[in-house]
Amino acid sequence: MKSVVVYSSITGFTRKYAEWIADDLNCDILSVKDATIEKLLKYDTVIYGGSLHAAGITGIKIIKNNWRKLTGKNLVIFATGASPYKEKILDEIREKNFTPEEQKQVKVFYLRGGFDFSRLNFINKVLMSLFKWSILLKPEKKRTPDEIGMLACYANPVDYTNKEKCREIVDYVKCIADDQL
Ligand SMILES: Cc1cc2nc3c(=O)[nH]c(=O)nc-3n(C[C@H](O)[C@H](O)[C@H](O)COP(=O)(O)O)c2cc1C
Repeated sequence: MKSVVVYSSITGFTRKYAEWIADDLNCDILSVKDATIEKLLKYDTVIYGGSLHAAGITGIKIIKNNWRKLTGKNLVIFATGASPYKEKILDEIREKNFTPEEQKQVKVFYLRGGFDFSRLNFINKVLMSLFKWSILLKPEKKRTPDEIGMLACYANPVDYTNKEKCREIVDYVKCIADDQL
């Protein structure tokens, strides 16, 4: 069974996970910038990773726009974000990014990435500055622990990536490969 990891990464956290997963699966890896549907159709399993932007997965349109063509492929999605893992996050990601029908056909994972304001491009710096101000304008007592944690990251980049966290995805892909032998 042939697999490929496709990733979209602005500041490098998702790329790091994509490289670890591709290494462990000994499979091909492609930046979304170089990915075309023709290339993806050569694989049985497409693992797509992108960072969360307001809960949307960056670059996911390569999968969404080619949904019908990808029918029959194993679709494994991982999203990275700055927030810690929480129980509801997978449901939130599924609901924000996929229709109920699509949700039945994808397996979704969340990996905590990191945050590096200094490496963001101009537009994302503006968006994240607005987000920072929306937190700062709240009375301190009303800020959630996630928001307080997020504020601290603007001055000091944080990297929560951890190779061990890829194991669940790698094991899942190996398992579907064994089942389809
Ligand atoms: C505009 C913007 C919106 C973001 N929204 C979220 C979010 O909704 N949830 C989250 O956990 N992280 C959010 N983040 C943080 C990124 O998802 C996180 O830094 C990610 O690990 C970056 O991965 P990358 O370096 O591969 O792009 C956001 C970052 C930006 C720039």
